[in-house]
Formats: sequence, structure tokens, C-alpha cells
Amino acid sequence: MKVTYAGVAALAAGAVAAPSNTVPRKAAAACSSPVTLDANTNVFKTRKLHANTFYRSEVEAAVQQISDSSLKTQASKVADVGSFLWLDNIANIAKFDPAVADLPCDEILGLVIYDLPGRDCAAKASNGELKYNELSRYKTEYIDPIVAKLKANPNSAFALLIEPDSLPNLVTNADLQTCKDSKNAYEEGVAYALKSLNLPNVVMYIDAGHGGWLGWDANLKPGAEGIAKVYKNAGSPKQVRGYATNIAGWNSWDQSPGEFAGASDAKYNSCQNEKTYVTKFSEALRTAGFPNHAIVDTGRNAVTGLRSEWGNWCNVNGAGFGVRPTADTGLELADAFVWGKPGGESDGTSDSSAVRYDSFCGKADAYKPSPEAGEWNQPYFEMLLKNANPKF
Ligand code: GLC
Repeated sequence: MKVTYAGVAALAAGAVAAPSNTVPRKAAAACSSPVTLDANTNVFKTRKLHANTFYRSEVEAAVQQISDSSLKTQASKVADVGSFLWLDNIANIAKFDPAVADLPCDEILGLVIYDLPGRDCAAKASNGELKYNELSRYKTEYIDPIVAKLKANPNSAFALLIEPDSLPNLVTNADLQTCKDSKNAYEEGVAYALKSLNLPNVVMYIDAGHGGWLGWDANLKPGAEGIAKVYKNAGSPKQVRGYATNIAGWNSWDQSPGEFAGASDAKYNSCQNEKTYVTKFSEALRTAGFPNHAIVDTGRNAVTGLRSEWGNWCNVNGAGFGVRPTADTGLELADAFVWGKPGGESDGTSDSSAVRYDSFCGKADAYKPSPEAGEWNQPYFEMLLKNANPKF
């Protein structure tokens, strides 16, 4: 069954996605001179993560569908939360211009670079448009046009999150044929992205999964070395600040004992929350020769105890919006809590007859029905809102 919520689904799924309500709120207020970001510092200390017009328009459409007046009031506040904008295919590079149009000088626009050849090699829900052997298209039709847009906006600041799940999959799912096929394109593609996007007005964070992924004792070292290798192959670009964790994830920042600390295999994982993971993975990265500051997705991690295993990644039922973006993390290695996944957008369809149906989206702890990855799921959004901590 495919869930569609008239209007909202249309704008969330639209390739070019320029609904009339994505017009900027105020006139462009970029800086008066070119921005130079120092990747040796935490840029989130001086620049707030921008509440982009695309997510704002999704949330505003969602507000229209809510009749309960107090929930409506809470929902409208979500529109003001900063989040990352996913440039998740070539056509969606068109989301860049409206998003930058109202970006003030003291804010930073978060963008997710997410279109590798053979994308999402260990799952199906987010399989992309490029085949594993289409690396040259990734370079010329995806990365190069984004570079041009960043260069055309020298007076604005950007935080880029590079290719969720890709390098972690090469560590833990290397035996899958699809990941074997994608290995070269992932390593060369990410290196090309890092090299090409290395611009003064940009800082970059490479995706590093989460504590329940590369946090296993046996994965910390190969995980860090895999990331460092690609970074060095790219010529150690100076605008790389570090890595991103828990993107579109569910793990608690500092719950102790951790959510899965009681599991029989817990003894093999000393990173039972993201704070411990950041602490330990940063050390492994430093040893491997990679800049080791993190951003952590807290967009949907307010409620724990919902998953039967922490590898369960799809539309977790009962989840709630977590801590709002802030540079006040209490840990020097963690630059910021961010909203990486725009809460309300689906992780994958629960329609078992769909081409991109992944069995994780049919698990007992996954919310059903859910639409295709990236499409808006109104009841899921309302659930996140009701379960938010802190409350809106
Ligand atoms: C998923 C989808 C992608 C979407 C992103 C954010 O990974 O595959 O299309 O943009 O989530 O919701």
C-alpha cells in the first residue's frame, strides 16, 4: 500500500520541488564579503544551523493537516528548527538555490551529499539513480554542479555531510555482492567529493555510522582506517573537519547504561551510546590520521527502548524529536547536535511489493504504513511531535 497525503507527498517527493511556499521568508542576507571557514575550529559555535525553506514548507503543509489546536501550535515551531537539506539526486540539486536565498550571514546551510553510484549497497530502501559503474556521471552530473553552486555563493557558509552509510558499509557489509560492486565507486567517489568540495566557505563531515555500527570493538580500527584512507587519497583536504554520527539514527547521546547494554553481545561493543562512540572513534581516527570532530544527529532520538536490535534503522515506531541543534554538547570532540534526517520524511516504504521494499521496513518495530524513502509521512511526523523531548 502506498501512502500519499495529497499535497504534502507531492512536494516532498517532487524532483525539483519548488512549491510556491518555498519562497524565501526574507530577502537574501548573505555576508558582505567572502566567507572563510576555519576547519580547525567549531563553526557551529558562531553560526547557527539554518532552518531551510524546503523542510519549512514540508512542516507548514503538515501543520495545515492538524486540527488539534495545541498540536498545531507545537507543529508550527518545528518549521524553525535547523536541519540538513538532502541533495539526494541530480534533479534535487535544484533545491539549493531556494535554500540559500534566505540564508543570513550568521547561519550555516547544512547539505547532505547523497548520490553515490550503487547507493545504499546493503539495503534497498534508498537505492539511488546511479548504477555502481556510473562514477563519471556522479562526478560530472552531480558533484561538479554542486561545486559550481557553492562557488557562486562565496558569501554564504555551508556544512556538508558526505555520503551517509557509504564507507561504513564497506567495513561491515563488504561480503555482499552489491557492496563489492560499489567499493571502487564509493572510495573514488567520496575522494572526488572531498577534493572538489574543498572550498573556503565549506566545512565537511564524512558519515561514520553510529555506535551500534562502527562502534563494535572489532570495527573501530578498520572503520577509522577506511575513512582516513579515502581522505588521504583525496589529498587531505583542509576543509574536512571530521565525521557525522547517528545520521537518520535512533541512538541516545548519553544514556547509561546504554540502550542495548543488557544484550548478550554487548560485551563486544564498548560504545553503547553516541557520546562513548564519539570519544572512542575520535581516538581511532586521530591514530589513523584523520581530523576527528563530530556532528551528531539528535533529530529523532528522544525515546529509547523501542527497537529489538540497534541495527533496526527503518521508521522506528514510537520515536520522538530529540534535542534541537546546538553547539553546546558538553564534549569538545562533538561540535554540534544537528537534525540530519528531516523528521517526518520516511526511511523506506513498508509496501512489500515495491521495488525498493526492504524487509527492515516491515519489522515489528517499524511504523506502518510508511511511504517511499524521503516522502512525507504525516502520522509519523505527528508521532515524533507528540513524543518530542524536549517538548515543543
Ligand atoms: C533517505 C532517502 C532520501 C531522502 C533522505 C532524507 O535516505 O533515500 O531520498 O532525501 O532519506 O529524508
